[in-house]
Amino acid sequence: MTDPVLSISHAHLSLDGNAGRVDILHDISLEVASGETLGLVGPSGSGKSSLLMLMGGLEQATSGTITALGQDLTAMNEDQLALFRRDHMGVVFQSFHLIPTMTALENVATPLELAGAKDAFARAAAELEAVGLGNRMDHYPNQMSGGEQQRVALARASAPRPKILLADEPTGNLDETNGAAIINLLFDLRDRHGATLILVTHANELAARCDRVIRLRDGRIDSPVAKAAE
Ligand SMILES: Nc1ncnc2c1ncn2[C@@H]1O[C@H](COP(=O)(O)OP(=O)(O)OP(=O)(O)O)[C@@H](O)[C@H]1O
Ligand SMILES: [Mg+2]
Repeated sequence: MTDPVLSISHAHLSLDGNAGRVDILHDISLEVASGETLGLVGPSGSGKSSLLMLMGGLEQATSGTITALGQDLTAMNEDQLALFRRDHMGVVFQSFHLIPTMTALENVATPLELAGAKDAFARAAAELEAVGLGNRMDHYPNQMSGGEQQRVALARASAPRPKILLADEPTGNLDETNGAAIINLLFDLRDRHGATLILVTHANELAARCDRVIRLRDGRIDSPVAKAAE
């Protein structure tokens, strides 16, 4: 493999909750190549979202190393991680994390403005059109359905054309038509802009389009999943 875009070596994650210490991820090692699409599957609670958070530097590994675009995320502080994400990564959270006091348009325009784009609002409007939300630009998150919020979150993450896009169940709240449109949008980001995609999904049709699928079970990599059609 040429230099991987993302490399995880012997990562462990434990979190201290009120019920004591919980071991969430155990000895995770994997590499993702440039332009690859990796699917993460596994039962609820198996650690998919937690692994995505580690990959985005949003959760600190208890031990092990995580390297993205040649940079060691485990050696960065919060500010450095925030800058790294701004410049290189898009993240779509399972619970969207839209800014409640901003309209859909403002939510999508903000990362573009932070990246210094002069036409941030025009580009944000085009991104919202692309996810079928041209008629919801001035709505606040609490005035939108779950699936609409999910599409705003995806537009926001993909608008700056990140090299790495991490998305947690990006079609989880969508009907078939909107789900298919979002899948096309994701793969367009890969095909036209060379993005590396890491997608958590329960949807077979999305997993089937990934180049490779990894299954988690109880916080461990269970097995690479053989692709059904091959
Ligand atoms: N902050 C936390 N403190 C303690 N335990 C946590 C915390 N966050 C997650 N967990 C536990 O870690 C495990 C993995 O959670 P995670 O959210 O990664 O699962 P998941 O595979 O994404 O599940 P789902 O498909 O339901 O989204 C779960 O058992 C969860 O209860
Ligand atoms: Mg999850």
